[in-house]
Amino acid sequence: MNRTFSIIKPDATKRNITGSINKIIEQNNLVIIAQKRIKLSKEKAEDFYSVHREKPFFQELIQYMTSGPVIIQVLEGDNAVENYRKIMGSTNPENADDGTIRKLYGLNIQENSVHGSDSNENAKIEISYFFDESEIINN
Ligand code: CMP
Repeated sequence: MNRTFSIIKPDATKRNITGSINKIIEQNNLVIIAQKRIKLSKEKAEDFYSVHREKPFFQELIQYMTSGPVIIQVLEGDNAVENYRKIMGSTNPENADDGTIRKLYGLNIQENSVHGSDSNENAKIEISYFFDESEIINN
């Protein structure tokens, strides 16, 4: 059992499809053990995505991630990080496998509906950045 951190992004909250995404998460044996709907501040978005600070798409990414509410989640299950990455599909929805969240719902490489941690180490960091341990209730 382990945990991963997930964000359902503004393109998905705007289209009211967060339930459809949660259904895919649950159908793939991940349990949503914490969930909050928040609006990211510019500072928090910049800090969260600081590894991309030098990338040409950084400013656009921050503008997009602060453009509407997001749902932040902690997901738990066997190989949660790897499992969720498989369910999300490739960053660019055009390259994502059929049946993945990004293939089904992603609009383009930026508005790709979901974020998931890329390693167990980053999952721990990302979860603790947004959640107090007391807010995480596992089965
Ligand atoms: P995410 O997995 O949250 O990690 C970084 C985000 O930056 C990514 O999903 C996309 O939303 C965005 N992103 C990645 N590559 C590009 C790109 N080439 N152009 C625009 N946005 C990108």
